[in-house]
Amino acid sequence: MAVQISPSILSADFARLADEAKAVEEAADWLHVDVMDNHFVPNLTLGLPVVEALLKHALLPIDCHLMIEDPDRHAPAYAEAGAGSVTIHAEAAKAPVRTLRAIRAAGARCGLGINPGTAIEPYADLLDEVDMVLLMTVEPGFGGQKFLDMVLPKIRRTRAMLTARRAGRPADGREIWIQVDGGVSVETIERCADAGADVFVAGSAVYGAQDPARAARDLRAQAERATARAAWNAAG
Ligand code: DX5
Ligand code: ZN
Repeated sequence: MAVQISPSILSADFARLADEAKAVEEAADWLHVDVMDNHFVPNLTLGLPVVEALLKHALLPIDCHLMIEDPDRHAPAYAEAGAGSVTIHAEAAKAPVRTLRAIRAAGARCGLGINPGTAIEPYADLLDEVDMVLLMTVEPGFGGQKFLDMVLPKIRRTRAMLTARRAGRPADGREIWIQVDGGVSVETIERCADAGADVFVAGSAVYGAQDPARAARDLRAQAERATARAAWNAAG
């Protein structure tokens, strides 16, 4: 699986979102949009109307990360609006199978978000229902936090689960991606790629840089080098 970069607009200028999206257009694969409701996390950002507005202006597909309570009720609308990917949190969803299927039925990829303190193993049975696992590498809620190395073993275990899953079935052409989100930077991205991540969210490391496009390209190059060397990649 090729490395993908998803800059988080949480660290962008919210008054100039269309321009900020354009700034990374050539260098990134996705635009990561953090929806926070002040209940699931102690911060409030934006919701469906802003995502709909961004969809009209951004050329990159939108990667919606819903840090909200009751995603079962709210998530499908983001897919129906045209987001390319919609991620709900395992800790918040009450009917994840139904909700993940509704997201897919609306034409988006679906993701399952896992907080640092939540194990992946209880969600093994859900892997058939997801296109991406998002492993949070900080507690969700804010940009600019310090990367949590404690999540690295979980990235490795998730990669091992996906490799075993693929070996046990005929190729169905479906690849499940592992996204990491939080504290991803030039200091930490190699560790994530080495452990098995292939989609990298970066907020402050991209939008805090003088040249966001260049920062995204540098992160991609570093992740690609680490992936080429990674044992999990040779095995897969
Ligand atoms: C945090 C958000 C992240 C955030 C990452 O809860 O989910 O997407 O933007 O920001 P950095 O990359 O600065 O840690
Ligand atoms: Zn996020």
